[in-house]
Amino acid sequence: MPAHLPAEQQEQMLSVARTALKHAHAPYSNFRVGATVLTDRGGLYQGCNVENASYGMTICAERAAICAAVAAEGSKMKIKAVAVATERDGPCAPCGACRQVIFEFGPDAVVLFRGQSGPAQTAITKLLPEGFRL
Ligand code: THU
Repeated sequence: MPAHLPAEQQEQMLSVARTALKHAHAPYSNFRVGATVLTDRGGLYQGCNVENASYGMTICAERAAICAAVAAEGSKMKIKAVAVATERDGPCAPCGACRQVIFEFGPDAVVLFRGQSGPAQTAITKLLPEGFRL
């Protein structure tokens, strides 16, 4: 069962993500995204999307934050929660690639994002049923 985050912690994670998105490199899409990863030891790591003239090289905010968490805590790092923020009001659930990467480090993770009908808090296993494992 994924943890239900207290409202204060949710707000803290979303606020860190909103700060991170200001550093995004998004000259091609103009769509800035920020993400925060909370680890089971209480570490908070942020990331933003970093685009490239060779579009396919783009890294999403979620994966950038996960890379920062692994770099800081090592590969046994466990994700408790991920928060995603954008500048716009519309929905922004993590893309499919990011769901798989979240699942790798946090099969019990909860994901905070703006869904079709407002703020959502959903288990990664609901966003990604049958995630891939080796
Ligand atoms: N993007 C993210 O950073 N996270 C998501 O969950 C969805 C999309 C970025 C990638 C690209 O830089 C821009 O948003 C438009 O797709």
